[in-house]
Amino acid sequence: MISVSKVSKTYGDGDAQTRVLKNVSLEIEAGEFVAIIGTSGSGKTTLLNVVGGLDREFTGDVSVNGAKISGLPEAKLAEMRNTQIGFVFQQFNLLDHLTAAENVALPSFFSPKETADAERRAVELLERVGLSGRSESNPTQLSGGQKQRVAIARSLFCNPQLLLCDEPTGSLDRNTGVEILNIFRKLNEDDGLTLIMVTHEEHIARMARRIIRFEDGEIVSDKANKPSDPSRRLQLGEEE
Ligand SMILES: Nc1ncnc2c1ncn2[C@@H]1O[C@H](COP(=O)(O)OP(=O)(O)O)[C@@H](O)[C@H]1O
Ligand SMILES: [Mg+2]
Repeated sequence: MISVSKVSKTYGDGDAQTRVLKNVSLEIEAGEFVAIIGTSGSGKTTLLNVVGGLDREFTGDVSVNGAKISGLPEAKLAEMRNTQIGFVFQQFNLLDHLTAAENVALPSFFSPKETADAERRAVELLERVGLSGRSESNPTQLSGGQKQRVAIARSLFCNPQLLLCDEPTGSLDRNTGVEILNIFRKLNEDDGLTLIMVTHEEHIARMARRIIRFEDGEIVSDKANKPSDPSRRLQLGEEE
């Protein structure tokens, strides 16, 4: 589904040059749940933005669903982002003056069809992420975890096959982060949604089915993972 081949990216020039991605190659199949873990500044966000077609300033090749990103005209790329990929960010990126349901249905503002159905679909998606009864709340009335649930419902609105999540638990406490990961797991296991999640938190990465370690713009390890259940471990009081 995703093929990253010899991708490099450099910021700045001359003495101020920083190589942020160094010849990164990577294959991700449909239905995978992959965590990319690395310290701050290692290039994780840059890589995710390249895969999601948000950043086209790189060398090498990236294909999503067989379409080579570098070859797509901007309009086609935007269409791909809007129809095939959902994005979830650390800061939720919700609009405070809209209700939860309106935030979820926001993608429908950009497509003329079925605005009447949009509200109903938004409410259904909110139920799916455990927010039934909160569709009329404004983000200001919601906790961080609830806001992230709204953002996840919004990312699913256009029925994407792929979710790209950049530090989705970075603004949440540990237990709330685990709850959010359980939603991702369910979406992956029940609906076959492909997930790529960037994180710097070890216990969060361990809830994915494959862990790619990233250091200084390079993949240093890439391993299948038997997802752990940190919520259970927390109850048992075990060390990580
Ligand atoms: N727009 C930019 N201009 C210059 N350097 C940048 C820019 N964006 C990111 N960087 C640098 O690229 C490196 C990787 O950044 P990033 O991909 O955000 O890392 P991570 O998400 O792992 O924290 C960092 O050293 C960062 O300072
Ligand atoms: Mg980042």
